Amino acid sequence: MAMNQMRANEIICNCKQVSYADIADALHKIDRFEDVVKSFDEVQKITHCSTGCGGCHDKILDTISEIMMA
Ligand code: FES
Repeated sequence: MAMNQMRANEIICNCKQVSYADIADALHKIDRFEDVVKSFDEVQKITHCSTGCGGCHDKILDTISEIMMA
């Protein structure tokens, strides 16, 4: 699983100030990936991303799939 270093500091969830790197770190803590939606739940538990306005939901999903595919 690779992280896009250029994007590491990019804030994906503004409400909770969760960065691309925070999401990548959270994904590294999960030992089994079943699918993006399941991983989203796990990442959300760890980072609390998307628990504010919820507007970042799709952005978080895209970020997770991008990191998982890398
Ligand atoms: S931007 Fe992520 S919950 Fe609002």
